[in-house]
Amino acid sequence: MRLELPANTERFGANTFHHIQKVFEMDGGYEMDAEFSSPFHIIQQISREQIYHIERDMAIVIPVKNERLRLLEGVLSGIPHDCLPIIVSNSQREPVDRYRMEQAMVDTFCRYAKKRYVIAHQRSPELAKVFRDGNYPHLLDENGLVHNGKAEGMLAGITLAHLSGKKYVGFIDSDNYFPGAVFEYARLFSAGLSQSRSPYSMVRIQWQSKPKIVDSELYFAKFGRVSRITNHYLNSLLSHYTGFETELLRTGNAGEHALSMALALRLDYSAGFSIETYHFVSLLEKFGGVIPSPFPEVMKSGTDIYQMESRNPHLHDADKGNDHIKEMIEYSLGVMFHSPLCPENVKKEILQELRAGKIIGKNADPVLPRRYPALVNLDFKTAARTTDWQRHGNFIPA
Ligand code: GDD
Repeated sequence: MRLELPANTERFGANTFHHIQKVFEMDGGYEMDAEFSSPFHIIQQISREQIYHIERDMAIVIPVKNERLRLLEGVLSGIPHDCLPIIVSNSQREPVDRYRMEQAMVDTFCRYAKKRYVIAHQRSPELAKVFRDGNYPHLLDENGLVHNGKAEGMLAGITLAHLSGKKYVGFIDSDNYFPGAVFEYARLFSAGLSQSRSPYSMVRIQWQSKPKIVDSELYFAKFGRVSRITNHYLNSLLSHYTGFETELLRTGNAGEHALSMALALRLDYSAGFSIETYHFVSLLEKFGGVIPSPFPEVMKSGTDIYQMESRNPHLHDADKGNDHIKEMIEYSLGVMFHSPLCPENVKKEILQELRAGKIIGKNADPVLPRRYPALVNLDFKTAARTTDWQRHGNFIPA
């Protein structure tokens, strides 16, 4: 891959947030061009070896809830062979057992592709057992099962990726119409992560565009309503502390992102669709230097947060309605509003935004989404001893 060097950065404590990087060529060629190592060059070449090394150690978690099988199959076909797909499904079991259909399709696909995979139902007792045995009850509801929600499925995915021995974990939604875009996201994950010298790194994708039909014409919109609002307030929060206005953060709601396992296990998480925004809040809270950090090793090495712009447009399943959008805005702003780092002026603006948009009532505060402490608190050794994924038929060897 040939991509722009991340020239502009914002630092906040131990965090380095890199400016959006542009991709020049998705495939950078077999031969390495020595000219790119010149310190005066603004483009870098990431070798195929660097990409393959990361892919071999990466799991890609695909959260699914009642999506069309064809879309899920397309997503699987876009995942590079060396990455381990982990499908965490919260699809219905009754009256039609959609999960069974997904299992059958994924199994057939991976047998043909001769590829290992992991699949789990979010509400299965087997999955819940991992968290019970690992003494991490936070993810379990009153029935002893993993809570509903996309974030909760993602946390289960990180856990399964770690139990499978993976060093990196990426996330790609299951409702993507273009396998080529999925392939590009996975490659960008590896290219992005390969740049970091710190064990604590993350890559977040900004879609090149999200095509829509406007007046019978294709229109390539760049930012959706949610991202526009989330990014604005994230930047306000950052600017408050640095003292310099910035627009650097562009990926506040990036569903497509990847993390080194070392960072994934040390961040706190929040419920539902606030999870991606909360990544930033958790980074600022835990490694920003304002609040004492529970992880001095991260403070020492620092974190590297890369933002990359894909070349493919993002076409996913149809809009899920205005209420869904409003909920995403409230949850995203809610995690900023309730952060001990959020200054009064930003809180005031958030309230104005939510009240003016009739997302919350005149006197209400935004919701405080449920929080999940860092997964490093889970006893993985015990969880691995007591859970035999192979016996449950969730796992096939290559
Ligand atoms: N396992 C699991 N559990 N998966 C779920 C759940 C759940 O409870 N709810 C939704 N999913 C899956 C969906 O099947 C889809 O693959 C993915 O999670 C995203 O859900 P959507 O409902 O399609 O979300 P969206 O398209 O509105 O928003 C996506 O893009 C945003 C950025 O614009 C999400 O990825 C957001 O998190 C992201 O911020």
